[in-house]
Amino acid sequence: DRSIKIAPSILSADFADFGREIRAIEAEGADWVHVDVMDGHFVPNLTFGPPAVKAFRPHVKTVMDVHLMIAPVDPWIDAYADAGADVLTAHLEAGPHIHRTLQAIRAAGMKAGVALNPATPADAVAHLLDLADLVLVMTVNPGFGGQKFIDMTGKIRALRAMIGDRPVHIQVDGGVDPVTAPLVAGAGADVLVAGSAVFRGGSVDNPAVYGDNIRAI
Ligand code: DX5
Ligand code: ZN
Repeated sequence: DRSIKIAPSILSADFADFGREIRAIEAEGADWVHVDVMDGHFVPNLTFGPPAVKAFRPHVKTVMDVHLMIAPVDPWIDAYADAGADVLTAHLEAGPHIHRTLQAIRAAGMKAGVALNPATPADAVAHLLDLADLVLVMTVNPGFGGQKFIDMTGKIRALRAMIGDRPVHIQVDGGVDPVTAPLVAGAGADVLVAGSAVFRGGSVDNPAVYGDNIRAI
């Protein structure tokens, strides 16, 4: 389906070669570039922060989609705007004021996303749908690439019905591969994040594999 966008997660890329990795996945057909920011506090893993994301910016010609797995979020919003994020997604579970956070992300000039951990129900975003450009449905517990897919198709269907004709993307992240992608797309997701399923078997020196993997999803 041409309306489905694939957003490779550079969490599965070579951390010593992000610029080339980003250029490779875009040349091989990535629609968006998904950037996983982890703080070692909200999730039990640590990746990179605003200076690194700013360094990625000139390499991204499509959409730089930044998934914050950090708490708190609000003190960092301006730094990610300055870093050049197009979409900035915060977890609903990261603090008591997600409504304020989404307002602040838009006020800083970015598209606003709200992410839901597997245990968080679809209803939690009922009062946020006019403030969000994207709802991210996690299909793993956030923190690591390469985990087993958790079936959230019921949540995706519920969100699609709640969203109605609003221009809100449903993004899915975690364990997306050629087997699970049709399930989540069939339930109504339109932006599919994939890390290990895109990068496995390839490298910056053999990026054609990335293209084959993207087309297989
Ligand atoms: C997990 C991250 C994901 C991760 C997905 O916490 O948010 O973006 O990179 O990796 P895969 O596709 O390997 O499950
Ligand atoms: Zn992610």
